[in-house]
This record gives sequence, C-alpha cells and structure tokens, in this order.
Amino acid sequence: MSDAKQNTVQNGPLRHFLQFRDFSREEIEYLLDRARLIKDKFKRYQPHHTLHDRTLAMVFEKASTRTRVSFEAGMYQLGGSVIHLTSSNSQLGRSEPIEDTARVVSRMVDLVMIRTFEQTRIERFAAHSRVPVINGLTNEYHPCQILADIFTYIEYRGSIEGKTVAWIGDANNMAYTWLQAAEILGFTLHVSGPEGYRLDPKLTGQVGPNVLREFDDPMEAARGAHLVTTDVWTSMGFEAENEERRKAFADWCVDADMMAQADPEAIFMHCLPAHRGEEVSGDVIDGPQSVVWDEAENRMHVQKALMEFLLLGKQ
Ligand code: CP
Ligand code: NVA
Repeated sequence: MSDAKQNTVQNGPLRHFLQFRDFSREEIEYLLDRARLIKDKFKRYQPHHTLHDRTLAMVFEKASTRTRVSFEAGMYQLGGSVIHLTSSNSQLGRSEPIEDTARVVSRMVDLVMIRTFEQTRIERFAAHSRVPVINGLTNEYHPCQILADIFTYIEYRGSIEGKTVAWIGDANNMAYTWLQAAEILGFTLHVSGPEGYRLDPKLTGQVGPNVLREFDDPMEAARGAHLVTTDVWTSMGFEAENEERRKAFADWCVDADMMAQADPEAIFMHCLPAHRGEEVSGDVIDGPQSVVWDEAENRMHVQKALMEFLLLGKQ
C-alpha cells in the first residue's frame, strides 16, 4: 500500500552513484559546475539550504575520516541531517542481511551513503533501496574521491580533457575509478605498479591507448604527466598482505625524482590517508606541487552537489 516517499527527483527515475560511469559526461560537468557555485557560497558564508528537512544515512563498514566528515558537514550545511551507522553499532554486524537493512533504512531517510567491501554488496543494497545510494568507497571503486580530484585539477589547471594522469602504485579502487573517468572525460591514464598488483584486463575491458597506457617502470609512467597521483600500498580489507606488499611496492614511491619526470606544471594528488616514506616521500606530499589539502576539502563541495542532484535534479 505505502509507496516510496516522494523524496527522489520529482517524476524522475531513482538514480544511484555506485560507480563513476553511472553518470554521463554531461552530468559530471553539471556536478562540477554546481560544486563550484556551492563552494563559492560556502566561502562567503552564504546559506545554501536546498536539502532542508532531508536526511542522509551513512553506513560505514570500514574506517573513515574524510568521507564521514565531508558528508556529515556537507549535509548539515545543506539544511539536512545525518544518521551515522557502522557495522559495530548496527545490526549489520550481527548478520542482518544487507537487503533487509536497505528496505528498512530507505523507508526512513532520503539518501544513503555506504562504505563497504565488495561492489556487489552496495549493488544489493541499491537494488532494495527506495532512495538514492552513493558509493563512499568499495573494494572496487571510490567515485566521490575522483569527482573531487577532477574538480581540484580543474581549479588548478583548467580542463582535464586531453591531459595525462599518472597513477603510480596499486591497481585498487582509485585506479579503476580513474580509468572510468578517463574514458568519460577524455584524458589519458598512465598506470604503473609491480607485477601481481596491476590492472586486470578482464575488468578493464577493451580500452585504447588514448585512454590507458601501462608501464613496467613508474618513471616512464610519470614522464610528461600533468597530474601524478598515488595511494596506499595496502587498501582497507587487504591488511593481511601488508608485509608482502611493502616488499613488492618498494620502487613505487612518488619522490622528487619521479615528479621531475612529469610536466613542469604537474600537480600531485593523494586521496589520503598517506604513508610518508612509502607510496610518497614527505618532500613531495608536503611540497609545492602537492594539492592534497584542497583535494580533501573538495570532497565536501562536490558531494554537496551530488546529494542535491540525486534528490532534486538539476537546479
Ligand atoms: N580519502 C578518503 O576517502 O578518506 P577517508 O578514508 O578518511 O574517508
Ligand atoms: N585505496 C584506499 C583508499 C582509502 C581512502 C583504501 O581502499 O583503503
């Protein structure tokens, strides 16, 4: 009898952001433009309460600092409110099926953000949700982070189209999301990682050299790049492989020599948290080419645009 609350885009289909390619190029460009306006208002202390009375549930099955703070602060700034769930403070940790959690939570809130393990888990949640679901990181993808990274690149250097992004390190959730972004937005991704930690061709599918080029030598991958970026050698959920990975990744540290291979105007990004002396040297992450603090702040601005878009459509 009871139908879904009228809390999605009026008369529009239910949309989720489970991976970067869930949105078209035109929609990504809209979000980036909207985030610029939202950030500008935030900096001027101008209220922007477009989600007054709306509630976001955040479900964390892995740890977080940036994702939690950016979604929580962002939703309050939009005039809404937030509920924070984790595996240990909810029935998820006591084996309540994800489908049942989705059915229940999505009757009471307007929007859900989830950080979890397998992509199939967030897909199962979304399939049983009455409200939009946002991927706050899975083993496979981290689309909100790449949205923020591209917004940050544009702030510093203008359009990313035709540019080269060098991914140095593990073929993880960030790398696969960068690849989707390269296909959609028209830039080239250089990837270099040690054997055993490279992109899986079964997952990348057929991609041309304008989109993806893989290198054995990280110095080659960095050559001429406009953006050099990396991430931890061991992502959340893979901690048992830590020692093995430390040995395998020893030559995949973004240091000053590697940055010197890149374009003279190149910038450095890292989604954070970072391990100085492992995937990046202290002088690079704390140096003049690094934009990591703006990158982290921009999570909040792009996610405000994203939440607004999923609930209200284009404004
Ligand atoms: N970059 C990122 O998602 O950070 P957290 O793990 O702190 O949320
Ligand atoms: N690749 C990292 C990103 C953390 C924000 C992880 O999944 O742990």
